[in-house]
Amino acid sequence: MFTPQGPTFRELAVQALSSVEHGYDLLAPKFDHTPFRTPDSVLRSVAQALRRIGPFESGLDLCCGTGAGMDVLRAVCREQVTGVDISAGMLAVARERSEARPGGPPTAWVRGDARALPFGPAFDLVVSFGAFGHFLPGELPGLFAQVHSVLRPGGRFAFPIGAPVRPGSRGYWALLGFDAAMRVRNAVWRPPFVMYYREFRLDDVRRELARAGFSVELYALPEFGRRSDGSPRCRMVVATKPGSAE
Ligand SMILES: C[S@@+](CC[C@H](N)C(=O)[O-])C[C@H]1O[C@@H](n2cnc3c(N)ncnc32)[C@H](O)[C@@H]1O
Repeated sequence: MFTPQGPTFRELAVQALSSVEHGYDLLAPKFDHTPFRTPDSVLRSVAQALRRIGPFESGLDLCCGTGAGMDVLRAVCREQVTGVDISAGMLAVARERSEARPGGPPTAWVRGDARALPFGPAFDLVVSFGAFGHFLPGELPGLFAQVHSVLRPGGRFAFPIGAPVRPGSRGYWALLGFDAAMRVRNAVWRPPFVMYYREFRLDDVRRELARAGFSVELYALPEFGRRSDGSPRCRMVVATKPGSAE
């Protein structure tokens, strides 16, 4: 999972004892060598699915980190792409990476909190990868309302979501162990570091998106196959703000 270029155990421990913002500032230079960066297979698959419902004009990558999802936006947006993240360190790495690979639509990097986005209704596509675990279930209504407010009428909010891990499997115990360790850490240490893998569930997400005013569609991502019950291992959620895109 971790490569020799990735963070040491000590660096990870220091990061995990910081706030979310400062923790990512510390991790930023080595973040792309951790399993926390969204894998290229997921990014490619989402880009392919979005191509089928695009093209789009102006895109926003919510919690962009070092810019993994910005490559998806560059593939499907014609006018402008923007990455927003709370960590200045992650944004600095993202900017450096992007300057090394010029081309594509104009790119902007903005420091901001996803719970209080510093934009008007300027986007017709918002994507997000690998960051929903940073929001407690009670924060989802506010988060989705923010995304709704920055979309133009007819705009889409799209993100991948994996099928829940099978109870008793290795993945199940790994996620359960991670979330339990986080709960203990947050009970005894300040500032909190919110990152819970098992809290972001499709049923809750659909309900809260609908409550925020979106209509919701699900697209299977075929590259990840199906489970033995026939359900997709990974889906793309597409939440559409009512109104017609001009
Ligand atoms: C696991 S990383 C994912 C980064 C990138 N999207 C990816 O897939 O590789 C989570 C990112 O969410 C950002 N983040 C966490 N809470 C945030 C918030 N409230 N507002 C904006 N960004 C936030 C962190 O700074 C970090 O860059």
